[in-house]
Amino acid sequence: MTIAPWTLRRVEVVSEADIAGLSRVLIDCVEGGSSVSFMHPLTRERAEAFWRNVAAGVASGLRALLIAEDDMGVCGTVQLVLDMPENQPHRADLVKMLVHRRARRRGLGAALMRAAEAMALDLGRTLLVLDAVTGDAGERLYTRLGWTRVGVIPRYALMPDGAFCSTTYFYRDLATGTPPGSQRA
Ligand SMILES: CC(C)(COP(=O)(O)OP(=O)(O)OC[C@H]1O[C@@H](n2cnc3c(N)ncnc32)[C@H](O)[C@@H]1OP(=O)(O)O)[C@@H](O)C(=O)NCCC(=O)NCCS
Repeated sequence: MTIAPWTLRRVEVVSEADIAGLSRVLIDCVEGGSSVSFMHPLTRERAEAFWRNVAAGVASGLRALLIAEDDMGVCGTVQLVLDMPENQPHRADLVKMLVHRRARRRGLGAALMRAAEAMALDLGRTLLVLDAVTGDAGERLYTRLGWTRVGVIPRYALMPDGAFCSTTYFYRDLATGTPPGSQRA
């Protein structure tokens, strides 16, 4: 059996070291041309401000955060947004799925998704929704893991260089779907 070159943990108290590591991953993704809410160039100050806001959400139970680490520090992350209207208590949005370029294409993205699905079930959330840049690696990942593709919204966001991109919405019904961990990587 191959031992994964990373460890995954759920973070309930986000440390300064976590914020620094998460910021490095976010900046790396933007520098790599991924559309993840920010334009290029993303400064360390702006990235850290983003993660401090996430940390506050984690502390107040509005978000759940997973972090992956390798021997160089934080190398991947994903979140569940739990702050839903009172008529959607079973739902969460899966957001900010990020893997540092040094750790890609080794199955970490799939591992983070499986861990996020398992965490959602632990938290009583059985319906997950996400969106991904149409045609990007994320769209392939979610399709491969059995998420249901809803459709495409054209000109939804900008790439870090300013070009428009479309987004594809997906959902995963954990109440009726394949149990997390049994999907193909
Ligand atoms: C999308 C993203 C999270 C995927 O992370 P990842 O760790 O590379 O994901 P995986 O390794 O599980 O899968 C990625 C690819 O590697 C392949 N792969 C997985 N394990 C592998 C291995 N051991 N050897 C070779 N290839 C492998 C997968 O088949 C997949 O191939 P494909 O993209 O051609 O379909 C990552 O590319 C990323 O962070 N992108 C920038 C941010 C972003 O766009 N996030 C998504 C927002 S919706």
